[in-house]
This record gives sequence, structure tokens and C-alpha cells, in this order.
Amino acid sequence: MFVSTPSPITEQAVAEALATALAAIGAAADSSALKAARAAHAGEASPLAVLNGAIRDLPGDQKAAAGKLVGQARAQLNQALAEADARILVAEEEARLVAEAVDVTAVASRWNRGARHPLSLLMEQMSDLFVAMGWEIGEGPELEHEWFNFDALNFDEDHPARAMQDTFFVEPAERHLVMRTHTSPVQIRSLLSRPLPVYVAAVGRVYRTDELDATHTPVFHQIEGIAIDKGLTMAHLRGTLEHLARAMFGEGAQIRLRPNYFPFTEPSAEMDVWQPNAKGGARWVEWGGCGMVNPNVLRSAGIDPDEYQGFAFGMGIERTLQFRNEMNDMRDMVEGDVRFSQQFGMVV
Ligand code: DAH
Repeated sequence: MFVSTPSPITEQAVAEALATALAAIGAAADSSALKAARAAHAGEASPLAVLNGAIRDLPGDQKAAAGKLVGQARAQLNQALAEADARILVAEEEARLVAEAVDVTAVASRWNRGARHPLSLLMEQMSDLFVAMGWEIGEGPELEHEWFNFDALNFDEDHPARAMQDTFFVEPAERHLVMRTHTSPVQIRSLLSRPLPVYVAAVGRVYRTDELDATHTPVFHQIEGIAIDKGLTMAHLRGTLEHLARAMFGEGAQIRLRPNYFPFTEPSAEMDVWQPNAKGGARWVEWGGCGMVNPNVLRSAGIDPDEYQGFAFGMGIERTLQFRNEMNDMRDMVEGDVRFSQQFGMVV
């Protein structure tokens, strides 16, 4: 007589296996936990897979019922896995977005900001001083015609004075262009473009064929002044320069004029400034050139020198900054290290 062994695939065994699997899947909080639950409860060695495998060994009449029982349980298991997949995908996406969120209201920490260059500040201060006296501010190009840079300023064609300034001549030579060697061509441009009387100050860049070292730079800055009116004398020149010197170097500053030669002024003078409060002790320093405008310069601009006269002056801005702030090396001014500029206080 055939006695069938009791089937291991009981409703209770299937329900227990399924319940354990659903509990593990429900408890999985992230994709790696779900992966472990999937391996343990849906993998080859999982209880439901083992039960499924056992169907093969059942007597034929029991296979259908057992197959249905296990099949329904596995279907529920797969559905629970699919739902958990979707749930965890959404949760992990949300967590990632939170973690990657950028606070657009946060204050940016810029560790190094720019600063105005002290030469720019000084040129503005000097210009303001002249504007306050009723002068105008003039301008001219840095690539200048030789006529403005030399001829109109009474530099003779063959005069050694033309070689006095180490000029960058710009090719082609027949165009007679130079990088301006001084701001003095602005004198001529001002006289040609304005009605008399003329009181003009101009600041700007100038060029000389010098190597960069502690005391020279091939690109530097000057301030130029020209005043043409009726009855101007050297006393007016002196007063103007003294006013500028005091604004730059303090109330105790004095100036001294020493005879010199410039083609565009007659008489001409070298100007020294007395700095009572200089670091190394009070001293005279050479600051610039000046003089009464040469009648030939006035004639170049179509002005009758018997009717109008005046004075002119020019000095280096770098030198002014050097004397004023006790700087020894010109290279500090041209290197562009923002920490140099920041010492002067105008941080932008
Ligand atoms: N242009 C001269 C230079 O660069 C400086 C100068 C001297 C300017 C005398 C003047 C002046 O206006 O009158 O060396």
C-alpha cells in the first residue's frame, strides 16, 4: 500500500516564510538593507525557494495545490520587493537632494578682495587739488605724435634735448609716432583746444626705454600743469607748487627752485621739496621741473607771447608716492600684488 509522506509544504510553513520575508523587506530602510533582505528571502537558499523546490518531490496529486500556495506567496513577496524598491528609491533621492542642497543665501567668503592702486588714488587727489583751484583736467593720447611730444615743445630737430629722454619710437618711422615720454604734450593739446586763459592739469602714463629696477620703470606717471593768462609770473608758479607740496607732504613742506634747462620753458628750474618729517630726517628731494612757458611754445599754439604768458610744471607720481610714503623699491608699485595696494586703505 502506498503511504504518502506528509507534505512539508504546509500552509503554515509558507505563511511563516512569507511573513518573515515581508517583515524583513518592510524593515529595510535603504538599498543595501533591501539587497540583503532580497538575498535572504528571495534568493536560491531562501525558505520560499526551498519550499518551491520541494514541490518537485511531491506526489503528483499534491503538486498543483502546493504550487498554487507557494506561487501566491512568491508573488506577494515579489510585489513587496517591487514596492520597497520604489519606496527606497524615492527616499534615497530625497536624502541626496537634501545633502546636496546649496544655501543660496549664504554669505560668500572671498578671502582676497581687490584694492585701488595708491598711484590711482594719488593722481585723483592731485587732480582734485587743481579742480578745487578752478583748473581744468586735460588729457592726451599715450601713443603721441612727435610734433606734440617734441617739436611743438621747442625741441629742435637735431637738438640733443630730443635724445635727453629715452624714447620708444613706434614703427613705421614715417608716421612719427612715439610713446609719449612725458605729459608735456598735453600742454600743446590744451592750448590748441581751449580758449584763453588756460589753467589745465593733466595726469597720466608716460614711457621711457628704461629697464625696471629699484629706481626706474619703463612705464610711469606724471602730473603736468600749464597756466597761460595775462600777467602770470614766477611768483604764481611758486605759490601753486608750494600749495601742491603742502597738500602732498604736509603743512611744513617747502619748495626750492634751482636753475635748469628745458626747451619748453625759459627760465627753467628744477624743483626740490623740503620734507621736514621725512623718516630719515628732514631733507631736500628732487621732485620735478618747471618754468615760464617758452614764447616758442606759445607760438606753436598760435598764441601771441607779448599778450599772454604763463608757467608750466611736471613731476613724477611714483616719486611723489615714494617720498610721501617712504618707499625704497619702485618694483613694489608695478608688481600688482594686491597686498601692496591694501596697505593704502581703499579696498573695493
Ligand atoms: N617734461 C619734463 C620731464 O618729463 C618735466 C617738466 C619740466 C615739465 C619742466 C614741465 C616743465 O612742464 O615746465 O622731464
